[in-house]
Amino acid sequence: MGEVQIIGTGSYVPERILTNDEISKIIDTNDQWIRSRTGIGERRITTGENTSKIAAKAAINALKNASINAEDIDLIIVATTTPDCYTPSTACIVQSLIGASRAVCFDISAACSGFIYALNIAYQFLRNGAMKNALIIGGETLSKILDWNDRGTCVLFGDGAGAAVLSIGNEEGVLGNYMASDGRGSDLLKCDAAPVDINNNILRKEVLGDEVYKNSKYLSMEGKEIFKFAVKVMEETIEKLLEEAKLDLSNIDYIIPHQANLRIIDHTIKKLDIDKEKFYINLQSYGNTSAASIPIALDEMNRKGLLKKGQNILMVGFGGGLTWGGSIIKWCK
Ligand code: ACO
Repeated sequence: MGEVQIIGTGSYVPERILTNDEISKIIDTNDQWIRSRTGIGERRITTGENTSKIAAKAAINALKNASINAEDIDLIIVATTTPDCYTPSTACIVQSLIGASRAVCFDISAACSGFIYALNIAYQFLRNGAMKNALIIGGETLSKILDWNDRGTCVLFGDGAGAAVLSIGNEEGVLGNYMASDGRGSDLLKCDAAPVDINNNILRKEVLGDEVYKNSKYLSMEGKEIFKFAVKVMEETIEKLLEEAKLDLSNIDYIIPHQANLRIIDHTIKKLDIDKEKFYINLQSYGNTSAASIPIALDEMNRKGLLKKGQNILMVGFGGGLTWGGSIIKWCK
């Protein structure tokens, strides 16, 4: 039994940039409101690529960075709120796109905490010796589930994917994991799938004739409640992780928070009295990409050369479900 390490990262965002000014042309909002309330300046929007394509591109970049072949991957987990379809899983489609023929593949649904959950799940398979190499991906095309008439949500999100390759090695890698959920808050951030409803099954035609079935399949959010929840669990998660890894904040080189809103991050910085320089923030360029936000940030840091061997990196996420959690990893590349 060895240590679980991140041996490579990758990301991909669609080329199309959607600015705050462009959104202001279709809905009653403005750049100043969006920047001051969220920190977001622009986001990327798919022009046709579905989640699997975006995720596969991030995966290929991660495999290259890890110098590993797709055939050597034993496990692919895609964390997404916006799969291509109900079935097959987005992970199976990614498998086929990248040629990872030996891998076991499945998706997980944990909203913006998805990448953290995927890391924790893959960690268990690798740590107990069942598998050697795992590819974990957070990938989203949130633009397809946004209500572009709801200014309270549509300005916040963006599309993209980030990936990491996990493998077994001898040096320290994952130092601590933490995950939590609270389904009592499930209505606070949600997007309906097809409901169990007479309107939706074979009886519909009998009862309603040809009346067109209408259903809201857009993301809805109680912004203020989510804000309060986010601030609380960011703090809780950082403290639990430090406890588990037997470290304190001075031992942490970088914190990668879920990139939802600058004000949430600022609250945490104040509350825990953390040096702001420790936080890596890129939400100004991508908005909230849900499960993709942490791995996109991790990959950006890796590619910029910010990550040095032996550094401790704390990742912390929160999202719909409600779900939250984090990991501390020692960078070993
Ligand atoms: N442009 C202009 N005005 C707006 C916009 C907009 N895009 N959105 C809302 N407003 C208006 C409202 O209509 C309201 O006007 P009113 O006072 O006339 O009624 C006013 O601005 C204030 O609205 P609030 O909802 O109170 O604004 P708030 O300061 O709470 O900011 C926000 C809203 C940014 C969503 C905030 O609640 C927030 O950050 N919540 C956290 C949620 C979050 O980050 N979610 C994203 C991810 S969740 C996750 O990742 C799990």
